[in-house]
Amino acid sequence: MNNQINTQNNLLDEPPIPVKVQKRLAETAAIKQLPKLIEAFQWNQKDRISVVGESIASAVEAHHPDVSKKIRSMFGKEMRQLAVKPERLLEFEEARHGFDAVILPLEIQRECMEIVAEHNRSSDLAAYGLVPRHKVLLHGAPGNGKTMLAEALAFELSIPFLRVKYGGLIDSHLGETGKNLQSIFEYTKTAPCVLFLDEFDGIGMDRNDNRDIGEMRRVTNQLLIAIERIPSSCVLVAATNADSLLDSALKRRFDFVIEVPTPTVELRFQCARKELSPSITPGHDVLHLADRIALMDLSNLSAVVDFCKRIRRDLVLNAGAGLDTLVGPA
Ligand SMILES: Nc1ncnc2c1ncn2[C@@H]1O[C@H](COP(=O)(O)OP(=O)(O)O)[C@@H](O)[C@H]1O
Ligand SMILES: [Mg+2]
Repeated sequence: MNNQINTQNNLLDEPPIPVKVQKRLAETAAIKQLPKLIEAFQWNQKDRISVVGESIASAVEAHHPDVSKKIRSMFGKEMRQLAVKPERLLEFEEARHGFDAVILPLEIQRECMEIVAEHNRSSDLAAYGLVPRHKVLLHGAPGNGKTMLAEALAFELSIPFLRVKYGGLIDSHLGETGKNLQSIFEYTKTAPCVLFLDEFDGIGMDRNDNRDIGEMRRVTNQLLIAIERIPSSCVLVAATNADSLLDSALKRRFDFVIEVPTPTVELRFQCARKELSPSITPGHDVLHLADRIALMDLSNLSAVVDFCKRIRRDLVLNAGAGLDTLVGPA
């Protein structure tokens, strides 16, 4: 009985800690662990990395359950030998924008959402023996958003964007290009990532092509095998301006073959509206120019973006005095 009264008194004496404060305390506790974590990484102390990782995950569990879950899944698995990035072949790039920055036809937007949804729910799929689709081939004329889209996929999935350095990949020494491909694909097994292979026709060319030389034929064969083995945690995005040059067997290995088309008037209009949005043309309202720009002879969205930048420069430097020359009188 006495005990009960005491407990009640204690409860009355000490008001509950407000949620906001609890959250801040938990975040501070997690932040304080960061130097230990970095140190453990520097020394490649796998056990300690797991212990510190777990303590960060439990500190943030109550208020950031998704972050906590992600940390646990990263540290919970047996840590493999820390992978060494093949510097000549790969670079990490910052993914700076998501899907909302990329102007695309609706059906492509839908396909991209599907890729993200499957990856975000890969454990649900795994429970039924399924893996997310993860091999994407983008093709179409230059300047309409293939590179942008690859980057946006990494951003939306919150995973690193790894770009293959084309110059390092193709090696004139016999067999070296194949070895390079092997090191790239080996490294991508480390953790989830978007692996971006631009100018894909340069390495995946048609093996029946008369101009083909033996070495490139071997490379295409190796690529076929490597793509087959790539783990589903790695989203492979290959891009080409010349898909007709690609080997057809190679093309069939992709889960998504997406044509990023030459833009319609509607897409050019959307792009111009985005590039002339009042938020980036402060003090000027030039949105009405978008429909005229959409009808101009600009062959790709890159040209639309460049043209809108010229307008914005003129607004900043000449208060729009050059607009008539640029777009013609209204
Ligand atoms: N679909 C798009 N939406 C918005 N901007 C685009 C789009 N396509 C191209 N751009 C503009 O053109 C530039 C080059 O596009 P990029 O993605 O490199 O084209 P690709 O890889 O197809 O040659 C981008 O940085 C962007 O400014
Ligand atoms: Mg590109």
